[in-house]
Amino acid sequence: MPHESIQIIHEEHTALAAMLRSIGMMVERGPGQRSENFFEVLRAMLFYIDEFPERLHHPKESELLFPRVARLAPETKVVIARLDQDHAKGESAVRELQHLLLAWELIGDARRAAFDTAAKRYLAFYLEHMRLEETVILPAALKVLNDADWLELDAAFATNCDPLTGRYPLDPAYERLYTRIVSRAPAPIGLG
Ligand SMILES: [Fe+2]
Ligand SMILES: [Fe+2]
Repeated sequence: MPHESIQIIHEEHTALAAMLRSIGMMVERGPGQRSENFFEVLRAMLFYIDEFPERLHHPKESELLFPRVARLAPETKVVIARLDQDHAKGESAVRELQHLLLAWELIGDARRAAFDTAAKRYLAFYLEHMRLEETVILPAALKVLNDADWLELDAAFATNCDPLTGRYPLDPAYERLYTRIVSRAPAPIGLG
């Protein structure tokens, strides 16, 4: 039976990766005829990233998971330092992207290239970040952490309740945001 926290981390990565890929597809396609819809959905997706992964997922990795793994598996220290750095700049990176999107929406096509470039860089940055966690940190954690570590991690990650993992009943507070994303964004995250 895999540890609950590891499963939650995998599921949250899958949800975030799907979101990032949908953002990439939207940026490729561009606004087309329905630019109002395009900007609204992209805004909702970036807001989601700010709201869930940035506030709940990454802080728990940095505060609870990484220090234990770094202590017990010192060979992971260099990668963990890099991942911590990613976490530290993640929030400002997504805020910056939100700002660049707003500039494109309000000022027009002159600002499109700046958003496109930043969005592509951001997507690559996050996919690589999660790849490193999955291939270096989680396998090391499975080797070195003990039952008490897992109990604490499982309890901490179980409170994230990210609605896009499909694991939890939807918090009514996030229903509008979730519906907006899923009904209008392209696959893999949405149906639009
Ligand atoms: Fe992370
Ligand atoms: Fe992660």
